[in-house]
Amino acid sequence: MNGCENMINELKIEIKKALEAFFKQNYDLEINIVVEEPKKAEMGDISIPSFSVVKALRRPLPECANIIKDEVVKFDYVLDANVMGGFVNLTINKSYVSSCILKQILDEKENYAGSEKNGKNIVIDYSSPNIAKPFSIGHLRSTIIGHSLKLIYLKAGYNVIGINHLGDWGSQFGKVIVAYKKWGSEESVKEDSLSELAKLYVRFHQEAKEDPSLDDEAREVFMKLEQGNEEYLKLWQWFRAESVKEAMNLYEMLDVSFDSYNGEAFFNDKMDGVVKELEEKNLLVLDDGASIVKLDDDMPPALIKRRDGASLYITRDLAAVFYRKKTYSFDKCLYVVGNEQKLHFNQLKKVIEKMGYDYGEQIYHINFGFVLRNGKKMSTRDGGVTTLKDVLNEAIKAAYNQINIKNPSLEDKENIAKNIGVGAVIFNDLKNHRSLDYEFNIDQMLKFEGQTGPYIQYTGVRINSILRENKIDGKINYDVFLKQHYFDVVKLLDQFKDMINRAINENAPSVICKYLLSIAQEFNVFYAKEKILTDDLETRNANLLLITAVKIVLEEGLRLVGIKSLERM
Ligand code: ARG
Repeated sequence: MNGCENMINELKIEIKKALEAFFKQNYDLEINIVVEEPKKAEMGDISIPSFSVVKALRRPLPECANIIKDEVVKFDYVLDANVMGGFVNLTINKSYVSSCILKQILDEKENYAGSEKNGKNIVIDYSSPNIAKPFSIGHLRSTIIGHSLKLIYLKAGYNVIGINHLGDWGSQFGKVIVAYKKWGSEESVKEDSLSELAKLYVRFHQEAKEDPSLDDEAREVFMKLEQGNEEYLKLWQWFRAESVKEAMNLYEMLDVSFDSYNGEAFFNDKMDGVVKELEEKNLLVLDDGASIVKLDDDMPPALIKRRDGASLYITRDLAAVFYRKKTYSFDKCLYVVGNEQKLHFNQLKKVIEKMGYDYGEQIYHINFGFVLRNGKKMSTRDGGVTTLKDVLNEAIKAAYNQINIKNPSLEDKENIAKNIGVGAVIFNDLKNHRSLDYEFNIDQMLKFEGQTGPYIQYTGVRINSILRENKIDGKINYDVFLKQHYFDVVKLLDQFKDMINRAINENAPSVICKYLLSIAQEFNVFYAKEKILTDDLETRNANLLLITAVKIVLEEGLRLVGIKSLERM
């Protein structure tokens, strides 16, 4: 056991192991012992069904239950055991266990539930917007989910490399260059590059509907760009730089950063090697002038090179995955990209396998669903005005208005509104499993009650306002933890590490969000029942100890999902 971390869970595991060893040693039987939570708290803290033992031992139930009982009471933290029906219900030493868990949290503070470095490398490819195309709400999801995964993996001791695989190459540049030369101006690109380039892109599509020759023109321009045409390269470089600058503003708002911005263009000179290797391994087939790799029957072939020789998205991704393996020797490579690219990543994995590499299994498509507004897909494609910056600013403004109603004299209102607004958007995104679609409703996500970011932040603020004026001073009455509503909070805090592991196994930050909601809910039940600053000093100290531990876990949990904790709001 690592001190008192994950203590109750570890205790369950120890009891299970000890009982299994006991039956092996004394009866030469391999029995799977189940150790679980009782259905009702009154029954005890831990419950062991004895049916599997009855079956294996072929002895009457009461006898088997008593054998289990006699074994488990030998454990230090087990105070008592009762046989009830077919179950052995244990009562653990709640005050000792609580004191141990809470002291550890207060000792370790924000490092609680963290892990030593494990030497494993995790590459996370996230955000990855397409330059010269609108920065979509999907890219916001990718940014938020990927960033949280990065923080969670770091906490668990992994070495993480965050990569923004910028979509900075591709036929869209032909379109935008043509559109810019026809309808654009230097000033407007400088002023608001992302949305200006997006507007040009949208206009191109509208005009090309009327005049298809524009498409040919764009194709030609892109081909020249690929061949190194100086004028076009200069424009490309400028568009890229301006767009990155803009994206940086968004990343700053979200407090997100990357270790690498090597995007698609970075792999332009690294694709020939891939094509050659595919040829050498006899995987490349000509199909109507294009080069493809045939995959399984149930999967369309991967298009590696177009007829005109142009490379494709998957060609660049192949070059990228080899480069990443070589450069970072990853144990896992995660791609945080929407559900709609499922086929692409399946193909990518399959091609890698066909090439004879054994790390297809280390590649994960961390897929996610759509964002809906009024039940319809929220998109920026059709020139609608919902840019990402607008969306965040809308949430921040709404938070600001709320503060003005609830707490108008609050200091530093702007900054607090920013953290509430941005936090609300993030929490609303991460609280559902990433694979699901969700509804974007600013009023809903900013509510102080319910499953929202502000609700969690507000729980922390409540605690902070008590702790500002009051410190633990003197002896602590640990007997209060015999009371169920005290112990329920401790039990939850004890699960932090387990939750981190679960979030990693599922690559799902929603696990942490749900956990934060349970803590906030359980704390608020406690808060409604108990007067924290009671006159009895030793009980008051116990209360302060408990809420300090809640504060530590809440704030660290919020940090892991990329949300700021607040002193006041
Ligand atoms: N730029 C792509 C898009 O917006 C996402 C890139 C994801 N990363 C990757 N290595 N394919 O669709």
